[in-house]
Amino acid sequence: MNSSVKVVPLDRVPAPLLAVAVGALNGKVPTSLLALDGHVGGAIERAIGSADFTGERDQTQLFYAAKNPRRVLLVGLGRLAEMTRGAARRAAAVAGRKAAALGVEQVAVHLAHEYRGGVGPATLGQVLLEGAMQGAWQFRLKAAGESKPPVKTIDLIATREERPEMERGRATGHAMGIGSKLARNLQALPGNICTPEYLATIARQLGRAYGFRVTAMDRAQIESEGMGGLMAVSRGSQQEPRFITLEYRGAGRAAPPIGLVGKGVTFDSGGISIKPAQNMEDMKYDMSGAAAVLGTFEVLGQLKPPVNVVGAIPATENLPSGTALKPGDVVRSHFGKTIEIVNTDAEGRLILADALSYVRRFKPACVIDAATLTGAITVALGNAAIGLMGNDDNLMAEVAQAGDRAGERCWPLPLWDEYRELNKSEIADVKNSGGRAAGSISAAWFLREFVDGYPWTHLDIAGTAYLEAEQPAQGKGPVGTGVRLFSEFVLARARG
Ligand code: BES
Ligand code: MN
Ligand code: ZN
Repeated sequence: MNSSVKVVPLDRVPAPLLAVAVGALNGKVPTSLLALDGHVGGAIERAIGSADFTGERDQTQLFYAAKNPRRVLLVGLGRLAEMTRGAARRAAAVAGRKAAALGVEQVAVHLAHEYRGGVGPATLGQVLLEGAMQGAWQFRLKAAGESKPPVKTIDLIATREERPEMERGRATGHAMGIGSKLARNLQALPGNICTPEYLATIARQLGRAYGFRVTAMDRAQIESEGMGGLMAVSRGSQQEPRFITLEYRGAGRAAPPIGLVGKGVTFDSGGISIKPAQNMEDMKYDMSGAAAVLGTFEVLGQLKPPVNVVGAIPATENLPSGTALKPGDVVRSHFGKTIEIVNTDAEGRLILADALSYVRRFKPACVIDAATLTGAITVALGNAAIGLMGNDDNLMAEVAQAGDRAGERCWPLPLWDEYRELNKSEIADVKNSGGRAAGSISAAWFLREFVDGYPWTHLDIAGTAYLEAEQPAQGKGPVGTGVRLFSEFVLARARG
């Protein structure tokens, strides 16, 4: 993907498609679009005059002209009072989706000056590019059949004065777009291709491309490291597990790193506590937390912020077999606590427990984990918010703010002491499922049993990592959730 900021009048944009975001219109063509209206022979005025196009959120209207820009797409932003960076990103995503559907290789994106609200050119450049790249993303493994060419170029249209600022934002947005694309491609890949070793290969590739230190432990090393949770989950699978670490050093040696941990279950059948067949194929997405970490490292490699970050990914399949973990088994975690397995489908917390324990060796300033951890989070929040829990209110607030900037909203759930009881075991230090009630909270409390010595936030992305039905700004399937949130968090820490 190429992107740039161009200074050119709207009616002379040299692209086959120009998308212009506009807010609620009150029946009149905005002044800044009068020349463009002339370019399409007054059709914009007629569409607005007839109230067929009103500028309401997600509304689109396509116009045709005799020369470039041959297609002009108006995209509704909604009311000016609601104009935020999120609204701009969303309109750009709608535009990107349309560009991909039309099969145009180049799209220009602009947000009419009348509708900018308080969003400045740098922010605008960033979120327009994030949105357009998100919308234009496509993924197929088809050997035959018709396929539209992918969008190759995204141009933002600016005035001369705003160009430098918008260019700065564009570069950030482009990096976010590349990182999200990596995450979504990994999510989209089926479990037979995206195995634990495949995730390790991607991590090593990132390491080579950007100069990170990357390690990937194999089964024997995981065993001798004492990672009883990861060993337990991987026991039923022919695929070897991997424990992957990535170290980005943008600041001095002494600066404690930010820790990012991602759940990397490349397929979750449930194990012996097997899941129903309905939608089980979606459990290829159970590595979405890992994808978020890898995508974030791509963003770091692109932007090179002055901060240290360490990523940790426990990667495994969760399958039933004659060697698989069984309900009733007791395993010893890396932390040392013993765990009674009451449900082999509560596997994410077992591998994350080891990761949260292992990262202590990096003496992290803080640790954030992202995991498709519980179906219960979808019951609580649907697909509109990430579940946010942790042991430190300040860190949780900082993470939530990063999520707001990223357009990846987080909503808190409490970790009161009462909920800790849910995981009490008769035979071991803790059991791996606290039952149906407060399922997301007991899962987070389980993780907390293995957190020691650093502020920590847990993000339950089971409801937001992929969509079962398309939305105006986001197709069905993988979302890349966590990449922008993690990156916004890290970039803010780098700014100090
Ligand atoms: N990977 C699942 C959670 C999940 C469910 C993600 C649906 C995306 C969509 C996780 O490993 C799991 O199976 N959790 C169980 C926990 C239960 C056994 C305590 C769940 O949510 O049912
Ligand atoms: Mn499971
Ligand atoms: Zn799982």
